[in-house]
Amino acid sequence: MRLHGRLAELARLGATGEGIDRGLFTPAERAARERLASWCRAAGLRLEQDRVGNLFARLDAPGAAGGAPIQCGSHLDTVRNGGAYDGAYGVVGGLEALQRIAASGRPLQRSLEVVAWAGEEGSRFPLGCLGSSVYAGQTAYDAAAALVADDGESFGAAVRGPNGLLDGVPVRDGFPPPAAYVELHVEQGPVMENCGARLGIVSAIAGQRRFQVAIEGVAGHSGTVPMTHRADALCAASELVLAVERAALAASDTVATVGQLVVDPNQTNIIPGHVLLRIDLRSIDDGRITAVDARIRDEAAQVAQTRGLRIGVTLLESRPAVTMAPPMRSLVRAACLERDPQAVDIVSGAGHDAMCVAAVAPVGMIFVPSIGGRSHVGDERTEPADLELGVDALVAVLLAAASAAVGGSGAVGASDA
Ligand code: GLV
Ligand code: MN
Ligand code: MN
Repeated sequence: MRLHGRLAELARLGATGEGIDRGLFTPAERAARERLASWCRAAGLRLEQDRVGNLFARLDAPGAAGGAPIQCGSHLDTVRNGGAYDGAYGVVGGLEALQRIAASGRPLQRSLEVVAWAGEEGSRFPLGCLGSSVYAGQTAYDAAAALVADDGESFGAAVRGPNGLLDGVPVRDGFPPPAAYVELHVEQGPVMENCGARLGIVSAIAGQRRFQVAIEGVAGHSGTVPMTHRADALCAASELVLAVERAALAASDTVATVGQLVVDPNQTNIIPGHVLLRIDLRSIDDGRITAVDARIRDEAAQVAQTRGLRIGVTLLESRPAVTMAPPMRSLVRAACLERDPQAVDIVSGAGHDAMCVAAVAPVGMIFVPSIGGRSHVGDERTEPADLELGVDALVAVLLAAASAAVGGSGAVGASDA
Protein backbone atom coordinates (compact mmCIF):
# COMPACT_ATOMS: atom_id res chain seq x y z
CA MET A 1 0.00 0.00 0.00
CA ARG A 2 1.12 3.51 -0.85
CA LEU A 3 1.18 4.83 2.75
CA HIS A 4 3.31 1.99 4.09
CA GLY A 5 5.59 1.92 1.07
CA ARG A 6 6.33 5.61 1.49
CA LEU A 7 6.95 5.33 5.23
CA ALA A 8 9.33 2.46 4.54
CA GLU A 9 11.13 4.50 1.88
CA LEU A 10 11.57 7.43 4.25
CA ALA A 11 12.78 5.08 6.99
CA ARG A 12 15.77 4.19 4.82
CA LEU A 13 16.89 7.83 4.70
CA GLY A 14 19.19 8.35 7.66
CA ALA A 15 18.93 4.72 8.83
CA THR A 16 21.70 3.98 11.34
CA GLY A 17 21.01 0.33 12.11
CA GLU A 18 19.60 1.32 15.49
CA GLY A 19 17.06 3.80 14.21
CA ILE A 20 16.88 6.88 12.01
CA ASP A 21 19.05 9.96 12.28
CA ARG A 22 17.57 12.82 10.26
CA GLY A 23 18.57 16.09 11.90
CA LEU A 24 17.30 19.23 10.18
CA PHE A 25 19.27 20.27 7.08
CA THR A 26 21.47 17.18 7.01
CA PRO A 27 21.79 15.21 3.75
CA ALA A 28 19.28 12.60 4.99
CA GLU A 29 16.70 15.17 6.02
CA ARG A 30 17.04 17.01 2.73
CA ALA A 31 16.65 13.71 0.90
CA ALA A 32 13.40 13.13 2.80
CA ARG A 33 12.09 16.54 1.73
CA GLU A 34 13.18 15.86 -1.86
CA ARG A 35 11.38 12.52 -1.77
CA LEU A 36 8.23 14.14 -0.41
CA ALA A 37 8.45 16.86 -3.06
CA SER A 38 8.69 14.25 -5.83
CA TRP A 39 5.60 12.40 -4.51
CA CYS A 40 3.70 15.67 -4.25
CA ARG A 41 4.62 16.73 -7.80
CA ALA A 42 3.57 13.34 -9.12
CA ALA A 43 0.27 13.74 -7.27
CA GLY A 44 -0.33 17.08 -9.02
CA LEU A 45 -0.04 19.16 -5.83
CA ARG A 46 1.37 22.67 -5.93
CA LEU A 47 4.63 22.93 -3.98
CA GLU A 48 5.98 25.91 -2.08
CA GLN A 49 8.46 26.40 0.74
CA ASP A 50 8.99 29.32 3.07
CA ARG A 51 12.29 30.83 4.04
CA VAL A 52 12.77 28.63 7.12
CA GLY A 53 12.36 25.45 5.08
CA ASN A 54 8.76 24.51 5.86
CA LEU A 55 7.50 22.67 2.76
CA PHE A 56 3.86 23.03 1.63
CA ALA A 57 1.97 20.99 -0.97
CA ARG A 58 -1.45 22.28 -1.91
CA LEU A 59 -4.49 20.68 -3.45
CA ASP A 60 -6.20 23.70 -4.95
CA ALA A 61 -9.95 23.94 -4.79
CA PRO A 62 -11.21 25.31 -8.10
CA GLY A 63 -12.77 28.68 -7.47
CA ALA A 64 -11.37 28.98 -3.94
CA ALA A 65 -8.23 30.83 -5.00
CA GLY A 66 -6.98 33.21 -2.37
CA GLY A 67 -8.80 31.61 0.55
CA ALA A 68 -6.66 30.28 3.37
CA PRO A 69 -6.33 26.49 3.15
CA ILE A 70 -7.14 23.81 5.68
CA GLN A 71 -3.75 22.39 6.62
CA CYS A 72 -2.51 19.10 7.90
CA GLY A 73 1.03 17.86 8.39
CA SER A 74 3.86 17.17 10.81
CA HIS A 75 7.66 16.86 10.47
CA LEU A 76 10.27 14.80 8.62
CA ASP A 77 13.20 15.33 10.98
CA THR A 78 13.89 12.76 13.70
CA VAL A 79 15.65 12.53 17.03
CA ARG A 80 18.93 10.60 17.01
CA ASN A 81 18.11 6.94 16.39
CA GLY A 82 14.44 7.83 16.20
CA GLY A 83 11.55 5.86 14.72
CA ALA A 84 9.87 5.69 11.33
CA TYR A 85 6.50 7.18 12.35
CA ASP A 86 7.09 10.14 14.65
CA GLY A 87 6.39 13.05 12.31
CA ALA A 88 6.76 11.14 9.04
CA TYR A 89 3.35 9.54 9.55
CA GLY A 90 1.60 12.91 9.79
CA VAL A 91 3.29 14.14 6.61
CA VAL A 92 2.88 10.99 4.52
CA GLY A 93 -0.59 10.42 6.00
CA GLY A 94 -1.49 14.01 5.09
CA LEU A 95 -0.32 13.49 1.51
CA GLU A 96 -2.27 10.24 1.36
CA ALA A 97 -5.40 12.03 2.60
CA LEU A 98 -5.05 14.75 -0.05
CA GLN A 99 -4.52 12.16 -2.78
CA ARG A 100 -7.60 10.21 -1.70
CA ILE A 101 -9.69 13.37 -1.62
CA ALA A 102 -8.41 14.39 -5.07
CA ALA A 103 -9.13 10.92 -6.45
CA SER A 104 -12.66 10.95 -5.02
CA GLY A 105 -13.48 13.88 -7.29
CA ARG A 106 -15.42 15.43 -4.44
CA PRO A 107 -15.90 19.16 -4.93
CA LEU A 108 -13.79 21.11 -2.45
CA GLN A 109 -14.92 24.39 -1.01
CA ARG A 110 -11.48 25.24 0.31
CA SER A 111 -7.93 24.33 -0.66
CA LEU A 112 -6.13 21.69 1.37
CA GLU A 113 -2.45 21.73 2.18
CA VAL A 114 -0.01 19.25 3.67
CA VAL A 115 3.03 20.69 5.44
CA ALA A 116 6.37 19.21 6.42
CA TRP A 117 7.46 21.54 9.22
CA ALA A 118 11.20 22.15 9.48
CA GLY A 119 12.98 20.82 12.55
CA GLU A 120 10.28 19.86 15.03
CA GLU A 121 12.52 17.75 17.24
CA GLY A 122 15.10 20.37 18.18
CA SER A 123 17.65 17.60 17.83
CA ARG A 124 20.10 19.56 15.69
CA PHE A 125 19.40 23.23 16.45
CA PRO A 126 18.55 23.94 20.09
CA LEU A 127 14.89 24.85 19.59
CA GLY A 128 12.00 22.44 19.16
CA CYS A 129 9.24 23.17 16.62
CA LEU A 130 11.67 25.53 14.91
CA GLY A 131 9.91 25.89 11.55
CA SER A 132 6.39 26.11 12.94
CA SER A 133 7.53 28.51 15.65
CA VAL A 134 8.84 31.01 13.10
CA TYR A 135 5.79 30.41 10.89
CA ALA A 136 3.47 31.22 13.79
CA GLY A 137 5.43 34.33 14.81
CA GLN A 138 6.62 32.86 18.10
CA THR A 139 10.28 33.01 17.13
CA ALA A 140 11.71 35.85 15.06
CA TYR A 141 13.44 34.74 11.87
CA ASP A 142 16.68 36.44 12.96
CA ALA A 143 16.62 34.62 16.31
CA ALA A 144 16.20 31.30 14.49
CA ALA A 145 18.95 32.19 12.02
CA ALA A 146 21.35 32.81 14.90
CA LEU A 147 20.83 29.35 16.47
CA VAL A 148 23.94 27.20 16.28
CA ALA A 149 23.92 23.41 16.04
CA ASP A 150 26.25 21.32 18.20
CA ASP A 151 28.32 20.73 15.03
CA GLY A 152 28.90 24.51 14.76
CA GLU A 153 26.69 25.37 11.78
CA SER A 154 24.20 28.20 12.23
CA PHE A 155 20.59 27.80 11.16
CA GLY A 156 21.00 30.84 8.89
CA ALA A 157 23.91 29.19 7.05
CA ALA A 158 22.25 25.77 6.96
CA VAL A 159 18.97 26.99 5.46
CA ARG A 160 20.91 28.60 2.59
CA GLY A 161 23.39 25.73 2.32
CA PRO A 162 23.37 22.58 0.19
CA ASN A 163 21.03 20.74 2.58
CA GLY A 164 18.69 23.68 3.12
CA LEU A 165 15.94 25.05 0.89
CA LEU A 166 15.02 22.86 -2.06
CA ASP A 167 15.96 23.84 -5.60
CA GLY A 168 13.12 24.59 -7.98
CA VAL A 169 10.48 25.06 -5.27
CA PRO A 170 9.12 28.63 -5.05
CA VAL A 171 9.72 30.43 -1.75
CA ARG A 172 6.55 32.03 -0.43
CA ASP A 173 6.30 35.55 0.85
CA GLY A 174 5.91 35.64 4.60
CA PHE A 175 4.04 33.07 6.63
CA PRO A 176 0.34 33.16 5.64
CA PRO A 177 -1.72 31.25 8.24
CA PRO A 178 -4.17 28.49 7.39
CA ALA A 179 -7.91 28.58 8.12
CA ALA A 180 -7.41 25.56 10.38
CA TYR A 181 -4.79 22.89 11.08
CA VAL A 182 -5.09 19.21 11.98
CA GLU A 183 -2.09 17.04 12.82
CA LEU A 184 -2.10 13.26 12.59
CA HIS A 185 0.51 11.62 14.82
CA VAL A 186 1.41 8.43 16.62
CA GLU A 187 0.65 8.59 20.34
CA GLN A 188 4.23 7.80 21.44
CA GLY A 189 3.00 6.47 24.79
CA PRO A 190 1.00 3.49 26.13
CA VAL A 191 -2.36 5.05 27.02
CA MET A 192 -4.37 4.11 23.91
CA GLU A 193 -3.01 0.59 23.72
CA ASN A 194 -3.87 0.07 27.38
CA CYS A 195 -7.49 1.04 26.84
CA GLY A 196 -7.93 -0.62 23.46
CA ALA A 197 -8.47 2.60 21.52
CA ARG A 198 -7.39 2.82 17.88
CA LEU A 199 -8.00 6.55 17.54
CA GLY A 200 -7.22 9.33 20.00
CA ILE A 201 -8.98 12.70 20.23
CA VAL A 202 -6.27 15.02 21.49
CA SER A 203 -7.55 17.51 24.04
CA ALA A 204 -4.33 19.36 24.87
CA ILE A 205 -0.55 19.27 24.53
CA ALA A 206 1.66 19.53 27.60
CA GLY A 207 3.76 22.66 28.05
CA GLN A 208 7.51 22.33 28.07
CA ARG A 209 10.71 24.10 28.96
CA ARG A 210 14.21 23.14 27.91
CA PHE A 211 17.28 24.35 29.77
CA GLN A 212 21.00 24.20 29.26
CA VAL A 213 23.12 23.99 32.40
CA ALA A 214 26.82 24.81 32.29
CA ILE A 215 28.87 23.55 35.22
CA GLU A 216 32.32 25.01 35.57
CA GLY A 217 34.59 23.14 37.97
CA VAL A 218 38.34 22.67 37.93
CA ALA A 219 40.02 19.98 35.84
CA GLY A 220 43.03 18.26 37.34
CA HIS A 221 45.05 15.10 37.80
CA SER A 222 42.88 12.23 38.98
CA GLY A 223 45.73 10.72 40.98
CA THR A 224 47.14 13.73 42.77
CA VAL A 225 44.31 16.07 43.77
CA PRO A 226 42.88 14.97 47.15
CA MET A 227 39.16 14.27 47.23
CA THR A 228 38.65 17.17 49.62
CA HIS A 229 40.25 19.68 47.23
CA ARG A 230 38.25 19.03 44.11
CA ALA A 231 35.64 20.99 42.15
CA ASP A 232 34.50 18.05 40.06
CA ALA A 233 31.93 19.23 37.52
CA LEU A 234 30.59 15.73 36.89
CA CYS A 235 29.97 15.06 40.58
CA ALA A 236 28.00 18.33 40.68
CA ALA A 237 26.12 17.30 37.53
CA SER A 238 25.27 13.96 39.12
CA GLU A 239 23.72 15.67 42.11
CA LEU A 240 21.74 17.92 39.81
CA VAL A 241 20.47 15.03 37.66
CA LEU A 242 19.00 13.41 40.76
CA ALA A 243 17.63 16.73 41.98
CA VAL A 244 15.78 17.12 38.67
CA GLU A 245 14.26 13.68 39.11
CA ARG A 246 13.20 14.46 42.70
CA ALA A 247 11.67 17.79 41.70
CA ALA A 248 9.50 16.18 39.01
CA LEU A 249 8.49 13.29 41.28
CA ALA A 250 7.39 15.74 43.95
CA ALA A 251 5.08 17.55 41.49
CA SER A 252 2.35 15.30 40.14
CA ASP A 253 1.68 15.06 36.39
CA THR A 254 5.09 16.49 35.64
CA VAL A 255 8.06 14.88 33.92
CA ALA A 256 11.66 16.06 33.79
CA THR A 257 14.56 14.47 31.99
CA VAL A 258 18.27 15.07 31.70
CA GLY A 259 18.81 13.52 28.28
CA GLN A 260 22.08 15.11 27.33
CA LEU A 261 25.34 15.35 29.19
CA VAL A 262 28.62 16.54 27.72
CA VAL A 263 31.65 15.91 29.90
CA ASP A 264 34.88 17.76 29.25
CA PRO A 265 37.64 16.64 28.83
CA ASN A 266 35.98 13.20 29.24
CA GLN A 267 39.08 11.20 29.99
CA THR A 268 39.63 8.55 32.65
CA ASN A 269 42.51 10.20 34.47
CA ILE A 270 41.29 13.80 34.42
CA ILE A 271 38.87 15.28 36.96
CA PRO A 272 36.01 16.62 34.82
CA GLY A 273 36.39 20.38 34.55
CA HIS A 274 33.26 21.25 32.60
CA VAL A 275 29.89 19.62 32.10
CA LEU A 276 27.03 20.78 29.92
CA LEU A 277 23.67 19.18 30.48
CA ARG A 278 20.24 19.76 29.06
CA ILE A 279 16.99 19.40 30.97
CA ASP A 280 13.56 18.82 29.42
CA LEU A 281 10.63 19.65 31.74
CA ARG A 282 6.96 19.11 30.88
CA SER A 283 3.50 19.25 32.38
CA ILE A 284 -0.02 19.94 31.26
CA ASP A 285 -0.12 22.44 34.15
CA ASP A 286 2.04 25.48 33.45
CA GLY A 287 2.06 26.38 37.16
CA ARG A 288 3.77 23.08 37.96
CA ILE A 289 6.38 23.75 35.30
CA THR A 290 7.11 27.11 36.89
CA ALA A 291 7.35 25.55 40.36
CA VAL A 292 9.67 22.74 39.24
CA ASP A 293 11.77 25.23 37.25
CA ALA A 294 12.26 27.28 40.44
CA ARG A 295 13.14 24.20 42.47
CA ILE A 296 15.72 23.04 39.92
CA ARG A 297 17.36 26.48 39.95
CA ASP A 298 17.45 26.47 43.77
CA GLU A 299 19.03 23.02 43.82
CA ALA A 300 21.60 24.13 41.21
CA ALA A 301 22.52 27.14 43.34
CA GLN A 302 22.92 24.92 46.40
CA VAL A 303 25.10 22.38 44.60
CA ALA A 304 27.27 25.22 43.28
CA GLN A 305 27.69 26.68 46.75
CA THR A 306 28.38 23.38 48.50
CA ARG A 307 30.88 22.26 45.90
CA GLY A 308 32.52 25.62 45.25
CA LEU A 309 31.96 25.75 41.49
CA ARG A 310 29.84 27.75 39.05
CA ILE A 311 26.56 26.58 37.61
CA GLY A 312 24.75 28.67 35.00
CA VAL A 313 21.20 27.76 33.97
CA THR A 314 19.96 29.07 30.59
CA LEU A 315 16.39 28.69 29.39
CA LEU A 316 16.52 27.46 25.77
CA GLU A 317 12.83 27.15 25.12
CA SER A 318 9.52 27.66 26.89
CA ARG A 319 6.14 26.70 25.47
CA PRO A 320 2.94 26.80 27.50
CA ALA A 321 0.44 23.96 27.39
CA VAL A 322 -1.96 24.29 24.47
CA THR A 323 -5.61 23.28 24.33
CA MET A 324 -7.10 22.10 21.04
CA ALA A 325 -9.63 24.53 19.55
CA PRO A 326 -13.17 23.38 20.45
CA PRO A 327 -14.47 23.44 16.84
CA MET A 328 -11.55 21.34 15.60
CA ARG A 329 -11.77 19.00 18.55
CA SER A 330 -15.45 18.44 17.74
CA LEU A 331 -14.61 17.57 14.15
CA VAL A 332 -11.86 15.21 15.32
CA ARG A 333 -14.18 13.64 17.88
CA ALA A 334 -16.92 12.98 15.31
CA ALA A 335 -14.46 11.52 12.78
CA CYS A 336 -12.78 9.29 15.39
CA LEU A 337 -15.91 7.99 17.14
CA GLU A 338 -17.50 7.15 13.79
CA ARG A 339 -14.55 4.88 13.00
CA ASP A 340 -13.73 3.64 16.49
CA PRO A 341 -16.37 3.61 19.24
CA GLN A 342 -13.50 3.09 21.70
CA ALA A 343 -11.74 6.31 20.62
CA VAL A 344 -10.47 8.18 23.67
CA ASP A 345 -9.78 11.73 24.71
CA ILE A 346 -6.10 12.04 25.34
CA VAL A 347 -3.56 14.63 26.45
CA SER A 348 -0.29 14.68 24.52
CA GLY A 349 2.83 14.53 26.66
CA ALA A 350 4.92 14.94 23.51
CA GLY A 351 5.31 18.30 21.81
CA HIS A 352 3.99 18.88 18.29
CA ASP A 353 4.01 21.59 15.64
CA ALA A 354 0.30 22.04 16.42
CA MET A 355 1.43 23.82 19.62
CA CYS A 356 2.83 26.64 17.54
CA VAL A 357 0.26 26.69 14.76
CA ALA A 358 -2.34 27.13 17.53
CA ALA A 359 -1.12 30.73 17.83
CA VAL A 360 -2.42 31.57 14.34
CA ALA A 361 -5.26 29.11 13.63
CA PRO A 362 -7.66 26.68 15.30
CA VAL A 363 -5.88 23.33 15.67
CA GLY A 364 -6.86 19.75 16.33
CA MET A 365 -4.92 16.48 16.54
CA ILE A 366 -5.65 12.82 15.85
CA PHE A 367 -3.58 10.06 17.46
CA VAL A 368 -3.11 6.41 16.57
CA PRO A 369 -1.57 3.98 19.09
CA SER A 370 2.11 3.16 19.44
CA ILE A 371 2.86 -0.51 20.04
CA GLY A 372 4.21 -0.88 23.58
CA GLY A 373 4.10 2.91 23.86
CA ARG A 374 7.58 3.01 22.30
CA SER A 375 8.80 6.19 20.61
CA HIS A 376 11.99 8.26 20.16
CA VAL A 377 13.62 4.85 19.68
CA GLY A 378 14.35 2.78 16.59
CA ASP A 379 11.72 0.14 17.36
CA GLU A 380 8.78 2.57 17.29
CA ARG A 381 5.82 0.76 15.64
CA THR A 382 2.12 1.19 14.90
CA GLU A 383 -0.19 -1.45 13.44
CA PRO A 384 -0.62 -0.84 9.69
CA ALA A 385 -4.42 -1.03 10.05
CA ASP A 386 -4.30 1.72 12.69
CA LEU A 387 -2.17 3.89 10.40
CA GLU A 388 -4.83 3.48 7.71
CA LEU A 389 -7.64 4.26 10.14
CA GLY A 390 -5.89 7.44 11.18
CA VAL A 391 -5.73 8.58 7.56
CA ASP A 392 -9.45 7.80 7.14
CA ALA A 393 -10.20 9.99 10.13
CA LEU A 394 -7.94 12.73 8.76
CA VAL A 395 -9.78 12.68 5.41
CA ALA A 396 -13.07 13.14 7.26
CA VAL A 397 -11.74 16.02 9.38
CA LEU A 398 -10.22 17.81 6.38
CA LEU A 399 -13.46 17.59 4.40
CA ALA A 400 -15.57 18.68 7.34
CA ALA A 401 -13.24 21.58 8.11
CA ALA A 402 -13.19 22.67 4.46
CA SER A 403 -16.99 22.83 4.45
CA ALA A 404 -17.27 24.40 7.90
CA ALA A 405 -14.99 27.24 6.91
CA VAL A 406 -17.12 28.26 3.95
CA GLY A 407 -19.17 31.36 4.61
CA GLY A 408 -17.31 32.11 7.86
CA SER A 409 -14.74 34.82 8.37
CA GLY A 410 -12.00 32.55 7.11
CA ALA A 411 -11.13 30.44 10.11
CA VAL A 412 -12.94 27.28 11.14
CA GLY A 413 -15.15 28.09 14.10
CA ALA A 414 -14.19 31.75 13.94
CA SER A 415 -17.63 32.69 15.21
CA ASP A 416 -17.84 30.13 18.01
CA ALA A 417 -14.20 29.91 19.16
C1 GLV B 1 9.11 15.98 20.26
O1 GLV B 1 8.86 14.88 19.88
C2 GLV B 1 9.10 16.24 21.67
O2 GLV B 1 8.04 16.09 22.29
O3 GLV B 1 10.18 16.51 22.21
MN1 MN C 1 6.59 14.27 16.33
MN1 MN D 1 9.51 13.42 18.38
